[in-house]
Amino acid sequence: MAGGVIATDSGSNQDFPGKLTGQVLICTTIAAFGGLMFGYDVGISGGVTGMDEFLMKFFPNVYIRKHHAHENNYCKFADEYLQLFTSSLYLAAIIASCAASIMCKKFGRKPTMQAASVFFLVGAILNVTASKLSMLILGRLFLGAGVGCGNQAVPLFITEIAPPKYRGGLNVCFQLLITIGILIANLVNYLTSNIKHYGWRISLGGAAMPAIFLLIGSFIIVETPASLVERGKKERGLKTLKRIRGVDDVQKEFEEIVRATEISNQIKNPFRELLKRPSIPPVICGTIIHIFQQFTGINVVMFYAPVLFQTMGFGSNASLLSAVITGTVNSLSTLIAIFSVDKAGRKKLLIFGASVCLIAQCAIGGLLKAYLTETSKVPGGTAKLVVGLICLYVNGFAWSWGPLGWLISSEVYPLETRSGGFFLAVGTNMFCTFLIAQSFLSMLCTMQAYIYFFFAAWLVTMIIFVAAMLPETKGISIDEMVERVWKKHWFWKRFYNSTDIERPKASIQLEQQDKPNQ
Ligand code: BGC
Repeated sequence: MAGGVIATDSGSNQDFPGKLTGQVLICTTIAAFGGLMFGYDVGISGGVTGMDEFLMKFFPNVYIRKHHAHENNYCKFADEYLQLFTSSLYLAAIIASCAASIMCKKFGRKPTMQAASVFFLVGAILNVTASKLSMLILGRLFLGAGVGCGNQAVPLFITEIAPPKYRGGLNVCFQLLITIGILIANLVNYLTSNIKHYGWRISLGGAAMPAIFLLIGSFIIVETPASLVERGKKERGLKTLKRIRGVDDVQKEFEEIVRATEISNQIKNPFRELLKRPSIPPVICGTIIHIFQQFTGINVVMFYAPVLFQTMGFGSNASLLSAVITGTVNSLSTLIAIFSVDKAGRKKLLIFGASVCLIAQCAIGGLLKAYLTETSKVPGGTAKLVVGLICLYVNGFAWSWGPLGWLISSEVYPLETRSGGFFLAVGTNMFCTFLIAQSFLSMLCTMQAYIYFFFAAWLVTMIIFVAAMLPETKGISIDEMVERVWKKHWFWKRFYNSTDIERPKASIQLEQQDKPNQ
């Protein structure tokens, strides 16, 4: 795919000379502001949509419903336009990430990141100065374009710039920055909610900060050697590689980059490859994992936690504070993934994580069914228990389906379909995020407390799927995925003939594309 990562495999036996230089750390930190940008967006909308001044200005009907004594608790916030405010961003992100993948290939990772920050900045300015709903939505579309470009270019950049043996860790740290972005947004909402008239403007305008850092920083960072080679600038690529590795002896790694680029350039249409029979197992598993990730219901919490808390009868402040608590749990629990992902194995974490989420969802659904009627508030103690259960749920997600969704979809594909397959994964994730964002408040209104059982049913399906169908990929070199994983799996092996040509054992990955959350 255009703009795929051309990089060696962190899991392979490659041991190129070179260290984790200050330059790599600085470049990674700057680029990671793209993750912060994305996380800030995820976390900011829920708090803002719960702010009275914001509702009065753009969604007066919701404001009236929210304060109407006899209004159905579950339907206070059900409004298509309010949902569109949150979801429009993801629609734009799908389109932008497609364009960004082409841009990455043609112009490089650096200009794509610069475009991301400019889009994001324009979006933040439009939101901060919004006087009409259309301006607000237009701002969200620009933010979405920024997220799409950023999510495509930044992980690509980090993966290509990192020395192979540090790549996995640096990728999970990127996911960590997303969760930190969400947490910062929750905190900003909490602090601005008491600022009369323009509190929401500060919240939405805050998005400009990471964008400005990324924009300024993008002039300091280097272009990746792979991108330079890909665009015919071999000499500059070699010079850059020496600089970022801090050694002169980079010939071996450079040759691998050149070789990977050549293979990459031979595959003119990776999407056509995805339609072939042997691609079906990784396509199904790599895509379904993202559908499942979103249908854990995580973004219901990330986007609408303050709204949910208000539905239970919390005041605005208590709701925003509760969102800060869940955001903190999210960030801290992601740390667990960094240390356990390569030890415990993917399947165990996914099954265990989904079970924790399942217990929490069922308990929340049960409590709300029992205590939250259409017109009454949840008693104080029960409401606190629900907040605790939401924290448990977020914890279960943060060390399993959060980072692993992205990790698995980037490692199950063989060389020739990895980039196309990963693009499919990103697109599916963004689309499902859009679906959830666009429909949750209406679903809450019609399904009421049963909505939690809806997500619980998904979680049961996921556990069964992972247990029965998903192969374990821990510790398997990416190059051996077909031979050692797919061809050995009790079900998926039927997609491969015994006459299949043994796959070339490339020691390099062509176009591995890892996402923020790895
Ligand atoms: C998901 C996002 C979610 C985030 C929460 C990511 O893995 O893809 O949709 O908002 O985790 O931390």
